Parts: sequence; C-alpha cells; structure tokens
Amino acid sequence: MKQDLPIGIFDSGVGGLTVYRALHERLPDERFVYLGDTARVPYGTRSLATVERYAIENARFLEAHGIKLLVVACNTASALALPAIREAVRVPVVGVIEPGARAAVDASGGPAVKRRIGVIATEATVQSGAYASAIARLDPDASVIANACPLFVPLAEEGWAGTEVAQMVAADYLKEIKEYGVDTLVLGCTHYPILKSVIQETVGREVSLIDSGEAAALNVEGLLEESGLRRVERVEPQRERQLCDDLDHFYVTDAAARFSRVAERFLGSAPSRLEAVEVWGHDELRTH
Ligand code: DGL
Repeated sequence: MKQDLPIGIFDSGVGGLTVYRALHERLPDERFVYLGDTARVPYGTRSLATVERYAIENARFLEAHGIKLLVVACNTASALALPAIREAVRVPVVGVIEPGARAAVDASGGPAVKRRIGVIATEATVQSGAYASAIARLDPDASVIANACPLFVPLAEEGWAGTEVAQMVAADYLKEIKEYGVDTLVLGCTHYPILKSVIQETVGREVSLIDSGEAAALNVEGLLEESGLRRVERVEPQRERQLCDDLDHFYVTDAAARFSRVAERFLGSAPSRLEAVEVWGHDELRTH
C-alpha cells in the first residue's frame, strides 16, 4: 500500500532534525526516512549548481528507497533547487520556503497593517531571494528584510544556544532587523529553531517567530490528506511513537557518531537505526 510507505526527508546535515521533529509531532502515525548529507555540509555557502547537484542525488537516493513523499528540510536546498528536485523525482516534493512564507504572511499584522517581515537564513538562501519572492507573491505590500546568520549553525550544533556568546552573536546579527521594526521573523534555516529563545529575547516578545519546519509539516499533512496518502493505521498500535525510535530510519553520508551526538542534543534522543551511505551514483537504484 502506498500509504504505508515512509516519508523521505533530506537535509545538508543534522539541522533538518528540527523539521523531522515537527513532522513527527504532527504526523505520529507516519514513518520517516531521513538523509543527512554530512559529508558535504554546509550547503549555505555553496553555488546554485552545486546545491542542485547534491540535492538531486539526495532526492534520488531517497526515492530509490521507496518513499511516498519527499520533504526538503534544508532551506538552502529548498530555496535553490526545488524545481530541479521536482524534475528529478516522481514523488510529490515539499520544500520549506513556501510554507514558511505563507505562515509569515498569515502571522504578520492585520489586514490594515503594513507587514514588515524579517527573514534569517544562510547566505545562499538570503542571496537567492526565495523567501522575499514567496512573500511578495502572497502579499505584494509586505516589506521584507533578510539577513544571513551563519554563526548560528555551529552555535546550535555545539550546544551553545543558551550562552552569553549566543546572546552577543544574536544581538549583532539581529540589530538591523530589530531596527527595521519587523512584526514577524522567519527562522529560515534548519538550525535556528534550536536558538529560538535567544532570538526571541533579542528581537522582543512582540515579534512572531515562524518555524518554517513546523509550517512545512502542516503543509505535508494537508497534502497527504488531499492525495489520500495519509497512513490510515497506527504504525504499531500497541506502543507510543518516540522520536528516533526504530520505526524511523536515518542515513548520513559521513560521521555517523557526530550526527548521533548532535541528534541527542537537538532531540533528546539519538537514532536507533543509523547508517552511513554514499548517495552519489544511485541512478541505477531508481525504481522507475
Ligand atoms: N540546512 C541548512 C539550511 O537550512 C543549514 C546548514 C547548511 O548551510 O548546510 O539552510
């Protein structure tokens, strides 16, 4: 049964686990296959052509493993490579940009208020202008300010989210966005939800923070319903689903032990099923 197939998720590395968590919380009866391209992370400083190539290889790898839908958890890959990914695979593909932009427009201001939306993301995502264009399509009157916050990634991975260093970095990165007077701020990178508290403190309680992973999870739920792909039965009715339990399968392209450690930090548990693989040259594995 197609409904019983897992949902594929890929990211440039470990950050996409925040998207996995959002999906898992919203859709506890689904199974997930996660691929973290830890051998080639980061994507956020790479060119369009490179990100497209990596993203296509990841997508094909997951498709060859039998999935019913693909979630591109990585904001950079979603911003740069979504059309190329959609062309490369046959399963439906959901990125995080469009859902994040929609959630931001929904959250920002009232009908009479001019929306001021901030976006923080990797350099490549900011340069692509993907969030700004998606927001402009939904609300041409909204004004958007976007800034790259590259140091947030190692701060999250090293467990420094709650430190004074994180406060200092956030104060510097978010200064302009704060001065601009945003009412809504999109966390446009997989790692940023880990720094949510320090970001919220820095920009002020009145600013709504948008987690693009949570927005994508809502989107996935809708798509599964519409297309009749939602799993109808609980995976295992006799037991509660846990994050990272053995019903979900995790693949990395390098450094599995580090992935496990950071997963523990991000999610409170490490994957029970984790394998190191190579994703390049998997064209021959394609089933169609
Ligand atoms: N996963 C990436 C993103 O959401 C952040 C890390 C990277 O640069 O690869 O954009």
